[in-house]
Amino acid sequence: MLSNSLVELDRAHLVHPVASYRGHERAGVRVLKSAKGATVTDATGHQMIDGFAGLWCVNAGYGHESIVEAAARQMRELPYATGYFSLGSEPAIRLAAELADRAPGDLNHVYFTLGGSDAIDSTIRFIRYYYHSLGKPAKDQFISLEQGYHGSSTVGAGLTALPIFHAGFGVPLDWQHKIPTHYAYRNPVGSDPQAIIAASVAALRAKVEEIGADRAAAFYVEPIQGSGGVLVPPPGWMKAMRDVCTELDILFVADEVITGFGRTGPLFACSDEDIVPDLMTTAKGLTSGYVPMGAVFLSERVYQTIADGAGSAAIGHGYTYSAHPVSAAVGLEVLRLYENGLLENGVKAGARLMAGLHKLAAHPLVGDVRGRGMLAAIELVVDKERKTPLPAAADPSRRIFDRAWDNGLVIRAFGNGVLGYAPPLCCTDAEIDAIIDRTRRTLDQTLEDPDVRAALA
Ligand SMILES: Cc1ncc(COP(=O)(O)O)c(C=O)c1O
Repeated sequence: MLSNSLVELDRAHLVHPVASYRGHERAGVRVLKSAKGATVTDATGHQMIDGFAGLWCVNAGYGHESIVEAAARQMRELPYATGYFSLGSEPAIRLAAELADRAPGDLNHVYFTLGGSDAIDSTIRFIRYYYHSLGKPAKDQFISLEQGYHGSSTVGAGLTALPIFHAGFGVPLDWQHKIPTHYAYRNPVGSDPQAIIAASVAALRAKVEEIGADRAAAFYVEPIQGSGGVLVPPPGWMKAMRDVCTELDILFVADEVITGFGRTGPLFACSDEDIVPDLMTTAKGLTSGYVPMGAVFLSERVYQTIADGAGSAAIGHGYTYSAHPVSAAVGLEVLRLYENGLLENGVKAGARLMAGLHKLAAHPLVGDVRGRGMLAAIELVVDKERKTPLPAAADPSRRIFDRAWDNGLVIRAFGNGVLGYAPPLCCTDAEIDAIIDRTRRTLDQTLEDPDVRAALA
């Protein structure tokens, strides 16, 4: 009864992110009610393992009393403090310092946002200001990767390269350029890692030449492309792209909104390959989704150039909720949990997850298995030789998501038949095994669908 009335209220009033409004009105909302560890429970009492950590964000898992305590303590003491007028709060200052201490290289300066989209938007403003400060305002052209996702802000959505974020919104803008993705499973140059790296390096060089070296400002990359389908670049790819950016005198921006905070193993995926970006964005795992917060990391060179360029003038970029003390208090506690066993458990659980998914490779519907740590995907096909996707009419995203849900598993089911996994780092062996078993059951059921069978034949 309660749940039915919520469905009606939701239908009438709540606008959902990235949804077909009409489709959502028809289907109705599914209300999540509670969660503990890696398990979420909906309003009907149905329990599921959250194989996607909310939206790749609840890295610590649900129900940590110490996080709740940290937030409550901060709310009681000082629920808000602005960072404007040179004011500040202890948790925000401490969190910035702790993060700078752990960030790659000299990414020593942290600007806090409310999430990932405004972190990306902030980088665009910082980079423009940086080049103005250097006396090179013409360097205002930005490059990113096809299949990339860099959020949904008015400007940042143009760095994103997924069509639904563009159609009807007037982006990308004419200073936002793309080069092909590394997507090994469907790369026209084949799957050889060296060929893929060479092709990406050549594409970036060609793009900078086309734009003009005096115009190119920055190159944005996710260490693993998340929303594009969990696309993992070959080892050495990030390093090669970082090096070519240095050589071409453009800034290298690592978007670690998904990959940060233990998702691939270490605190930052850039550390996997010893990469030091010029700017780095994070969010999600920063507070493990308990409260909103993102962070932009600036290298010494970028920060000092901006500071010197402005001189005594204020740099006109700020948000009311930048460096929010409650979010910062949560961030500090989440960081403590990561370093007191969660990162370690994530590495162990990630190895088990990858091994389990690789065992599914023999399933008739599985064309590709990819991932690193607790960030993974399987790509479904009906013809392994030709890599033919599931028929669109089979509506894989809806059908498989629903089926997994009924089987007690939340996953991300992309429209093209890619299934994404990003479980909380706290998962036990039994929970990882259940993720694999429930996926197998979901795939077996899908194999019995008449339209899928027909496409297979
Ligand atoms: C790589 C990346 N950048 C930016 C964003 C945007 O973050 P938010 O949804 O917190 O605005 C996301 C969100 O998924 C992301 O995956």
